[in-house]
Amino acid sequence: MILTGHLLIEDGSGGCQLRTGHVKLDGEIIAEISLDELTPRGNRSIQGVIGGHDCLICPGFIDAHLHLSQFGIIGAHGLPLLRWLEEFTFPEENKWNDPELAASTTATALEELVGHGTTGIAAYATVHHEATRRCLQVAEQKGVRALIGQVLMDCNAPASLCRPAAQLLNEAESLGAKYPPNRRVAAAVTPRFALSCSEELLRGSGKLATEQQATIQTHIAETKIECQQVQRQFGKRYSQVYCDAGLLTERTLLGHGIYLDPLDRQQLATANSKIVHCPTANSFLRSGEMHRQTLMEEPIQLAIGSDIGAGYERSMVRVAREMILTAARLGTSVPSASEAWYSITAGNADALSWLDAGRLRVGASADLLIIRPSIDWQSANSDPLSKLMFGWDDRWIQHVFLRGKLARSYN
Ligand code: GUN
Ligand code: FE
Repeated sequence: MILTGHLLIEDGSGGCQLRTGHVKLDGEIIAEISLDELTPRGNRSIQGVIGGHDCLICPGFIDAHLHLSQFGIIGAHGLPLLRWLEEFTFPEENKWNDPELAASTTATALEELVGHGTTGIAAYATVHHEATRRCLQVAEQKGVRALIGQVLMDCNAPASLCRPAAQLLNEAESLGAKYPPNRRVAAAVTPRFALSCSEELLRGSGKLATEQQATIQTHIAETKIECQQVQRQFGKRYSQVYCDAGLLTERTLLGHGIYLDPLDRQQLATANSKIVHCPTANSFLRSGEMHRQTLMEEPIQLAIGSDIGAGYERSMVRVAREMILTAARLGTSVPSASEAWYSITAGNADALSWLDAGRLRVGASADLLIIRPSIDWQSANSDPLSKLMFGWDDRWIQHVFLRGKLARSYN
């Protein structure tokens, strides 16, 4: 199979560029990449060639932070974080008490994400162990690349969603043993956030993640009130709570990071932990706006996520667009469209330590999109990548490949 068109490739300086060329697949992987020539013999009519001069060939998008159990509450508007959790989120997550419902919700959610061009995710399930098992199984069946964690919480949530720390740690350990880090679908150690975890649970999570060399997912400094409560509950700064529990590693993904003080930022940079910027969720819950430039100057490595269901966008292109607009509103250094395309592909892959994802690279898994834009993005003297990002329409996605197999086709 040969995919031909304008290839979205890295420009070598944290951005992307488009170059005419073709990509040859061999089974599940990218076997060959050729720039400048549309097909091996300049012949578009040979068999097994798809795409064309009006198409983009793009790595599948990666969403570095979302909740698979929260698709049903997308759009539940009007409440700030902690009340949104109590009134909309926890009741919705309670439904995963039924593992079969969890499996069918996961299947639908993944189909939606793939339909929007997302082929890799770092996601939260719920506190329910059996539901999380089913969620991991379904992700594997669907063929997406995924990090998924059982949500760990033992306090400050409804009793039906809390478990004893020891039980949660045993359950998370067994998931990590079945889905180790090197698998296409791997378990992530996922203490929800400091407020819903005892010190025992946080420390146990840190220890387990070190033993298993697993990715850690949690939230940090999303709202001011949350930060004040963390200070009251633990008597220390937010990042110190995680640091003392052994949770700040280079495999740690921290959602949000809006209200970090200089010491927090230093601590995260030293640990090489990643902040996952979730601009659509932040505007939806009116949490505030993350200062991307300040974090980058530290430097802290950034990823980007939809944070569904606080985030309302399934499309990572639109999430990236919101990142640009957030920086513009803050009046700070505004990422270019080229950097924004990079952030939802290779940038997120790097943050997740996925060396064979998010980029067109020989030997990488063939998780690819064929996109046929309906606007004239090539002719104007403005930046084509900006026109494509701000003019984006999900209906442009023609084909989605997962591991070299056609997962979705729209024409
Ligand atoms: N903080 C703790 N849990 C959550 C969650 O589910 N969503 C968001 N946006 N923030 C959180
Ligand atoms: Fe979240």
